[in-house]
Amino acid sequence: MSIDWTIVIILNNYLHDVATAVLLSSAVILYVLDRQAKGGGEGERKALARAYRTLTRFAWGALAWIIVGGIPRTIFFPTYEFIPATVKDIVLDLIIKHVLLVSGVIAGGIMWVRIGKRMRGYAAGDGQQ
Ligand code: HEM
Repeated sequence: MSIDWTIVIILNNYLHDVATAVLLSSAVILYVLDRQAKGGGEGERKALARAYRTLTRFAWGALAWIIVGGIPRTIFFPTYEFIPATVKDIVLDLIIKHVLLVSGVIAGGIMWVRIGKRMRGYAAGDGQQ
């Protein structure tokens, strides 16, 4: 009996997308907690501080998964996805999409660092920032 590797590749490709969704959701949750901490009081700031580390771990995990899973996806792309992409003439669009996605990840990373600084400011007693 031979293992059908196609299912492994398809699952890997799916998980690349799921990891993208996990990364985005972590950023959205962090953004919401930051907004609440800005407009709220001690309780909201503590909620942000409690969630920050866990969300950061989720985000790093998702980013690592996206990149590591993206490698086999790229290797097997010519076998499983390249022909439909060329037939549809969307190869350039797929590249542009990734440029936009990576830009989004960088912008999210900048937001993340800023929120981290603001959070540490709250902890140090700087109040609203
Ligand atoms: C960190 C930013 C990245 C994000 C947010 C991201 C997200 C995505 C998403 C959502 C798709 C599926 C899109 C669709 O089905 O239409 C996709 C496809 C793909 N990704 Fe990524 N990806 C990232 C980085 C990478 C990296 C670093 C690689 C290679 C090492 C890679 C290789 C691919 C390939 C080959 C495809 C299939 C072709 C395509 O749809 O463009 N990705 N990616």
